[in-house]
Amino acid sequence: KTQRIAVIPGDGIGNEVMPEGLRVVAAAAAKFDLPLSFQRFDWANCDYWQRTGRMMPDDWFAQLQDFDAIYFGAVGWPALVPDHISLWGSLLRFRREFDQYVNLRPVRLMPGVPCPLANKQPGDIDFYVVRENTEGEYSAVGGRMYEGTERETVLQESIFTRKGTDRILKYAFELANSRPRKLLTAATKSNGIAISMPWWDERVAAMAANYPEVSWDKQHIDILCARFVLQPERFDVVVGSNLFGDILSDLGPACAGTIGIAPSANLNPERRFPSLFEPVHGSAPDIYGRNIANPIGMIWSGAMMLDFLGNGNERYTAAHDAILRAIEATIADGPRTPDMGGTADTTAVGTAIAAAL
Ligand code: NAI
Ligand code: MG
Repeated sequence: KTQRIAVIPGDGIGNEVMPEGLRVVAAAAAKFDLPLSFQRFDWANCDYWQRTGRMMPDDWFAQLQDFDAIYFGAVGWPALVPDHISLWGSLLRFRREFDQYVNLRPVRLMPGVPCPLANKQPGDIDFYVVRENTEGEYSAVGGRMYEGTERETVLQESIFTRKGTDRILKYAFELANSRPRKLLTAATKSNGIAISMPWWDERVAAMAANYPEVSWDKQHIDILCARFVLQPERFDVVVGSNLFGDILSDLGPACAGTIGIAPSANLNPERRFPSLFEPVHGSAPDIYGRNIANPIGMIWSGAMMLDFLGNGNERYTAAHDAILRAIEATIADGPRTPDMGGTADTTAVGTAIAAAL
């Protein structure tokens, strides 16, 4: 079956890295004979907002819902549109309305990438952060009272449902169970957040009972952050609520080198709706327009997309693995973009990875 991919470059360097992502995904599709089709959408960006007053057309859901995946660059241009409008008007609507409840980020120290942590070798850092992506601390429930007075009070609720919590924990335990080390760490803060987090811990323990081969523990978010920096080799699969997962999923890639190479997936594992694949970084207004953005995060996200679309099909798995090997070879031998100490431009790196493939 042809896999239909919606292509949304978005803002800023999203437009510079997307052509390189497509170049490499297309090269992999040719090599491994993958039936893919692509359709580009020029909305979900801040120029569209300037022209129309909205981030997306009213029928965006109908336009996208039959795609198998969304390949997404980055959104946000704070000089034109406040971030809460641009992100809540596009990316966060995809995540929520397409029920992409798993945010998955591999954290891996690649050979040749300068590691900001002392004495770490490739192989020492190789884990996944699994973030709950639809509920938890990121809710729109709450409000302001007595505004402008001394009594001004602001309330923001967290929402944890059993369904929402159990499904992210199940995904994380399945992932841990599929990996050689079979380790799982759950982020918590049950010593401070005294209602939701003790309950989260109970759900973790209940889910763990279904996975006797997985060794698991729970760690408070504060010490967990410290261990990401001090002992990243301890981790295999780390699962967290929306807020804790958000923090860990930026900290993890930062510990493994430049943000420019970090990929992510927003998954609807049941495939009722399209899943979305995007680099971790944003639109990088500070470097946009010079074609020096690192395209590896976009390209690696493309590899994750093929792996997910294949759903176990060996040609798709092989395409994913081949792209990762091509990325590794290019990181080791160059060309490299300036964020990795090189002088090459975005196009040169994308072209080199496609050629290595
Ligand atoms: P950012 O990720 O765009 O940039 C942070 C720093 O990393 C900048 O110095 C930038 O030059 C550098 N950088 C980022 N990607 C790079 C790459 N591929 N190669 C080389 N260097 C790279 O984060 P920032 O500046 O906080 O946000 C800019 C805009 O992007 C905002 O509107 C923000 O809301 C949005 N954003 C969007 C995201 C998304 O679409 N998923 C994620 C993060 C931010
Ligand atoms: Mg984040």
